[in-house]
Amino acid sequence: MIKKKIKSIIKNRTGYDKILFSGRANTSIWKIGLYLKKKKKINIVLPSTLCVSPAVIFNILGFNIIYLDIDPNTGLIDENLLIHKIKTTKIDVIFFVNLYGNVLKNKFCKYAKQKKILVIQDLAQTFFSNSVNKNRKYIFGDILILSFGYSKIFDLKGGSLILTKNKEIYRDINYINLPEIKMDLNAKKKYLNWYDKYFSKNRKIENSKLNFAKKLYIKHYQNSYDKKILNSLKELNFEERERKEKLNFYSKVFKDKNIQILNQKDSLVPWRFCFLVKKKRNYILNKLRENNFDASSYYLALKRVKGSIKLEKQIINLWIDKSINKNKIQNQYKLIKNFL
Ligand SMILES: Cc1ncc(COP(=O)(O)O)c(C=O)c1O
Repeated sequence: MIKKKIKSIIKNRTGYDKILFSGRANTSIWKIGLYLKKKKKINIVLPSTLCVSPAVIFNILGFNIIYLDIDPNTGLIDENLLIHKIKTTKIDVIFFVNLYGNVLKNKFCKYAKQKKILVIQDLAQTFFSNSVNKNRKYIFGDILILSFGYSKIFDLKGGSLILTKNKEIYRDINYINLPEIKMDLNAKKKYLNWYDKYFSKNRKIENSKLNFAKKLYIKHYQNSYDKKILNSLKELNFEERERKEKLNFYSKVFKDKNIQILNQKDSLVPWRFCFLVKKKRNYILNKLRENNFDASSYYLALKRVKGSIKLEKQIINLWIDKSINKNKIQNQYKLIKNFL
């Protein structure tokens, strides 16, 4: 009953009418990966700036990953590079991520369609927006992924949805059944250990070191998520408005020639206020944290290429959720403005 309601809200808002439930976005990606392998679609494009988990999963499953550099003005895959790649290289799948809630013009979709390339759109870090009619043009994937996991727009500690309009894709992914393996603390420890080494060294993912991944990434959907997801969807308008208001306020307060704001005005639901600073990034981050402001430097480069390196070195994310208000935003700026 509740699932029916969830499906109906999503269908009305996005036009995607075939919806699957899974325990987390990483599980959704794993299932989609298995589906793609079955279809022998193994040449996949990933942005070089992205949360590492999708890259780990596609590695484990034996994909040929082509990393493309991002545009450091948006944090998204560089569209000109992408179009060039589509025209010149054999690609089966594009894994497109709306990192930070940012959007592209989506010129590339036309070329992808011509070459019958499947587009997966990972909305885990954002959410389809309330301003659907305006924003529907930004929701274009053959398959969409949503997440209700840790640090996402709605953090319910679990739950993910896979959306499609295609009957065969829906049927084939629905058919995939992943046995859940119990998570243990050892797997988490191994992951953190691996993570540190991966980002401090050459950023090569070695399959032999990834035996923790199934335990961490494969999680079954729990019916207890139903109500929470439904309530979140009901709050979507409010959440979007609040986040965009805070983002606007940040943009007015954080006005400095040494700050480059990454968020776009016409975004989906924004994740955090993200900006680049030319110097002293780590110092500024530490100052914020010392003063009890949540601040992070997501995301690191999965491949050391120009745009991703710049982003990795210069980015700061500040919170725009319920934990923050106008007063705190002003105090954050007062704290850092002398170091810019
Ligand atoms: C872009 C992206 N995809 C997938 C995931 C994985 O989400 P989940 O925690 O629901 O597995 C994340 C989260 O960290 C993400 O940022």
